[in-house]
Amino acid sequence: MRVLGIETSCDETGIAVYDDTQGLLSHQLYSQVKLHADYGGVVPELASRDHVRKIVPLIKQALLEADSTQSDIDGIAFTQGPGLVGALLVGSSVGRSLAYAWGCPAVGVHHMEGHLLAPMLEDNPPEFPFVALLVSGGHTMLVEVNGIGQYLVLGESVDDAAGEAFDKTAKLLGLDYPGGPLLAKLAEQGESGIYKFPRPMTDRPGLDFSFSGLKTFAANTIRAQELTPQTKANIALAFQEAVVDTLAIKCKRAMQQTGLKRLVIAGGVSANIQLQQKLAAMMAKMGGQVFYPRQEFCTDNGAMIAYAGLQRLKAGQTIELGAKAKPRWSLEELPAVS
Ligand code: KG4
Ligand code: ZN
Repeated sequence: MRVLGIETSCDETGIAVYDDTQGLLSHQLYSQVKLHADYGGVVPELASRDHVRKIVPLIKQALLEADSTQSDIDGIAFTQGPGLVGALLVGSSVGRSLAYAWGCPAVGVHHMEGHLLAPMLEDNPPEFPFVALLVSGGHTMLVEVNGIGQYLVLGESVDDAAGEAFDKTAKLLGLDYPGGPLLAKLAEQGESGIYKFPRPMTDRPGLDFSFSGLKTFAANTIRAQELTPQTKANIALAFQEAVVDTLAIKCKRAMQQTGLKRLVIAGGVSANIQLQQKLAAMMAKMGGQVFYPRQEFCTDNGAMIAYAGLQRLKAGQTIELGAKAKPRWSLEELPAVS
């Protein structure tokens, strides 16, 4: 089975072709970062319009690179939610139209399931069951994963997502949007131990997160002194260490609570090297293992959507062509794939 995957939930148009036996045949990505940078964040209307402009040329390119034509495609997978509704509508309209025109089935994929399964695209994929830490611009969640579609949310953010906290703190430090990777780069020049940021919600039981206080703490720290390039780097590092530590403390708790030995990290913030290293060291100490996708598949992409969609199409799950986009959609509502 060969599937065309379409991702348009936010500010990246991602297209890929994934084949059941041959693996990933091609993937194309167009990032709208430059378009939104002047506004300091994603402008939903501009995002939708840019997806409309880019989606068809990228599909053509992905098919060409996969040495495939429409007759080789057995199904279409598109991101049905969660995300920006206008952006989702572009991928869902194009995906369902192609399925109708090509006479093949379509399936709507949950964006966070895409992230969660992204490590399956790598050479050493995790076996079920595992715990997944999903950290993106819109979500922060710990999930017990017993199989595809068998998800139990163990904890989530009560306010800002981890990526959102990175982006907002980066903005306070004068960095461009999206600031997460730029803040991480700046933190490399920072000296550890100059500032002590709190580790929110770690002193009480439970697996929920709260990151909005860290952004306020950063704002107050920034206001309290003259900002030199070195103080900026020191603040960036202190903030990043606080987020990484907090995520690690909660991951450790989740591993102990579930008794599982495999931890998957996925979503944009899983590209953070300090987070990857901290969790790898922690899991090694606990006699377990951490799994994460290659850098380019940590952030939004079409490959993870093609992969997740293929698993569901193979199980006979398809979508009605009149189905709606789902800007809000819980992972726990998904049907199991057995
Ligand atoms: O998963 P993703 O590409 O999009 C959403 O589904 O939201 O995640 C994007 C988020 C942004 O907040 C971005 O700043 C953050 O991931 N991010 C990072 C890094 N790379 C991307 N945050 C920290 N360190 C990074 N290296
Ligand atoms: Zn994402």
